[in-house]
Formats: sequence, C-alpha cells, structure tokens
Amino acid sequence: MNSNMNPKSMISFKNIVKRFGTRTILKGISFDVAEGEILFVLGTSGTGKSVLLKNIVGLLRPDEGEIWIDGQEVSRIPEDDYLPVRKKCGMVFQHPALFDSMTIYDNVAFGVRRHERLDEAAISERVTRCLQLVNLADVEDKMPGQISYGMQKRVSLARTVAVGPKILLFDEPTTGLDPVTTSAVNQLIKDLSRTLKTTSMVVSHDMRCALEIADRIMVLDQGHIIAQGTPEELKQSAHPLVRDFLDEAVNA
Ligand SMILES: Nc1ncnc2c1ncn2[C@@H]1O[C@H](COP(=O)(O)OP(=O)(O)OP(=O)(O)O)[C@@H](O)[C@H]1O
Ligand SMILES: [Mg+2]
Repeated sequence: MNSNMNPKSMISFKNIVKRFGTRTILKGISFDVAEGEILFVLGTSGTGKSVLLKNIVGLLRPDEGEIWIDGQEVSRIPEDDYLPVRKKCGMVFQHPALFDSMTIYDNVAFGVRRHERLDEAAISERVTRCLQLVNLADVEDKMPGQISYGMQKRVSLARTVAVGPKILLFDEPTTGLDPVTTSAVNQLIKDLSRTLKTTSMVVSHDMRCALEIADRIMVLDQGHIIAQGTPEELKQSAHPLVRDFLDEAVNA
C-alpha cells in the first residue's frame, strides 16, 4: 500500500453527541475504523458502549455530529434509507436470542430467506458453510434448547454472517462465558473477520480479549474517549482507568 494513502474508513464518527433528556451520554466522540480493522471499545458499565453501537445501526440517532458508514453520511437519513445501511452491518447482541421454536438450520437460514431469493440447495449450502465457519457440525436439526449457551452464541454469529455483512458489530460477545469458551469465541471473531474481510467493532469489558485480537483499542469514560491505540500502545498508558483494565487482564 502507498504509505501516503490512508486505508478506507468504513465507520467514521465526527463529534457525535448523544443525549437522553438532560443526560449527555456521548460528549463529542470522534473516531475512524479502517476497512478490515478490528476495533475494541472498552469502558465500564453504563458509559454508553451499547448506545454507540446502536447509533451505527440507526436504532438510535445522534443529537449532533456526523456518522459515516462505507462512505455515506447516515445520521439524519430517513428510516427507509437506513435499511440498506443496516444490511451492511451485522450486529451480534450480547444474548444469542435465537428463535426457540426453530431448528438451528432455520435460525441461520432466517435472514438469508428474508433478504435473498435463493433456492433451498443454495440456502442449505450457505447454512452449512456458516456453521462450519463457527466450528459447529451436526447441529442443524437440533433446537436451540438442546445445545449449550456457548454453542448458541456461535449459532448467533453464524446467523449474522450468513447474510454477508461488510461490518460486524459485537456487543459484549464473551460476557457470561467461561474462560475457555471466551477464548474460543474471541479467536473466532478474529478468524471470521479475517476470513470474511469484514470491518469489526467489539464492545467489551474484557481487556484480555482486546489485547489478544484487537488491531486497535479505544477506551470510553464518562462520554469521552480517554485512550486509544494499538494493544502495545495501550499497555504503555498511564491513565488510571486504563491501568485498572490492564491489571484486571493480568490478574484474571
Ligand atoms: N433508550 C434510552 N433511553 C434513556 N437512557 C438510555 C437509553 N439507552 C441507554 N440509556 C442510558 O445511557 C447510558 C449508557 O448506556 P449503555 O447501555 O450504552 O451502557 P454500556 O456502556 O453499554 O453499559 P454495559 O457495559 O452495562 O452494557 C446508561 O446510563 C443508560 O441508562
Ligand atoms: Mg452495553
């Protein structure tokens, strides 16, 4: 790559302010996520990490500032125009939220059927491939209640990637998982992002996961970005909150 050329920015926040009533949650946030990058957003509970992700997919709209997704300014476009933007963004929520009365196969196929006109053979191929991507086999005919929580999380990942998003957004993907499953899901996020060449944002409390797979880490506190950089850069930070996160990662 020409060193004078910046990589394309897939997500860009320019001075984003988000308020609820008199409370300002995001106080002028600016950052970029480059195409293909994995950005971790760390912050304590209630700092506005989920609010930030919801602003990307248009579930919430900012009060001030601009949000650019894949070259388009989206913060004030009409709801109908947001649908194609939202299709570019696969969001993986904290809880798997699978359809309990549907097989794993139908859960993964659900979005594909809604968005694309494919015959059943093509759908079947897609479902199998996506389940393989998340290292699941022989689960297609099972119901969500018959597999473990960690497996359900992987199914929800398969369901999200099945519709081919350019951007993957994860809201606390490893919260509530045991350390072994946490490590597996974390590694899976990296592998998927690299294999599918997506741009990924991961919201998390888990510095250890961030140090393992992030290209860049951003720490939010009280509505501001208080630190950002590569894992190696963050490790050098003297900021007390960043130190707290780092100490926790070491002692975990
Ligand atoms: N729709 C809403 N209306 C009013 N207040 C909201 C709304 N959504 C979030 N908030 C408030 O915004 C703040 C940030 O919430 P958010 O869910 O983004 O926190 P978070 O960083 O994701 O926390 P956690 O780590 O616990 O998930 C909280 O004080 C929350 O109560
Ligand atoms: Mg949250």
